[in-house]
Amino acid sequence: MTSKRIILPVVITFIIICILIVNYISSLQGRDNTKENERTSMKVGISIYNQYDTFISSLVDNLKEETKRMEQEKGITITLDIVNAGGSQVSQNYQVEEFINKGYDILCINLVDRTDASTAIDMAMSADIPVIFFNRELVEKDLERWDQLFYVGAVALESGIMQGQIVAEACEKNFNQIDKNGDGVLQYVILEGEAGHQDSSIRTEYVIKTITEAGISVEKLGDEIANWNRAQGETRMSQWLKTYDDEIEIIIANNDDMALGAIDAMKKENIAYKPVVVGIDGTEVGLEAVKNGDMIGTVLNDGMGQAEGIIELAYSVVFHKELPETIELSDDKYIRKPHIKVTLENIDKILEKK
Ligand code: GAL
Repeated sequence: MTSKRIILPVVITFIIICILIVNYISSLQGRDNTKENERTSMKVGISIYNQYDTFISSLVDNLKEETKRMEQEKGITITLDIVNAGGSQVSQNYQVEEFINKGYDILCINLVDRTDASTAIDMAMSADIPVIFFNRELVEKDLERWDQLFYVGAVALESGIMQGQIVAEACEKNFNQIDKNGDGVLQYVILEGEAGHQDSSIRTEYVIKTITEAGISVEKLGDEIANWNRAQGETRMSQWLKTYDDEIEIIIANNDDMALGAIDAMKKENIAYKPVVVGIDGTEVGLEAVKNGDMIGTVLNDGMGQAEGIIELAYSVVFHKELPETIELSDDKYIRKPHIKVTLENIDKILEKK
């Protein structure tokens, strides 16, 4: 009887405590859900490696356009804070720190040094702020450190292959015209983007591989880095013109700006013969050069598609929403946009879409 008198109040107290705990937990969850449902804005911190890079500056314009579209479509407010790291990883790390201190919801980083992402990742992870890296691909090991790290870019290999196909197709139609000295071998120079950049090394390897696999013999006269830059492309080309005079038959450039720099050098020297020039990116000036015949072609690097991928992914991560079906997130981490070959044959269609 005595033991019954003790057990009953203990059981009742236990039940009451359980009910209170369950209520408390569900009220917390409710509060969280309300917070997510009530979210109507996001703040995005964007750091780019160099604002004077033509392709990157057009990508930034595309990001602004995509942001406006997303704001209208979803009825939300997006604050973009875009800063330039000016080619310094140390400055970029400070920018990331500042974004974190300001309490931004997500960071988009165009790494200066793609092999040196660890400081930025450490800071983001400890502040629990997701990061979308873009255009300059970090090493896989770094990206795998956390499930809130993503990469948006292009399929580097494809751009090299398509560039090689443009040259091979031009040779199929006009080999004798391109092979000016008639030795059956195409003498070429190549302007490379940047040491250690995934797009540079892969494009350089695959463009030549594709041309030779098409049965065309080539001979390399020169290979120089010009940092994606038109003025540097011009300087390298002026040097080559002094050394090789009219021996160069093809100029291959890892991007349009360097190809245009080479064309600037040839125009300044007023050279009589015309080597074939091919670029990559399909920037506004690059497409113009295809249209007016200065370049035989370029490969469109889909900056608009990449910007759409970045903004859609940022929205989906911050608002906890599904990505649209048109955007594929492979391995839960990567969005890679395909390229398009551009030559005189389809330039008008491409320009219409721009
Ligand atoms: C490449 C692009 C280059 C340059 C570089 C910067 O994808 O083709 O023009 O912008 O990115 O990382």
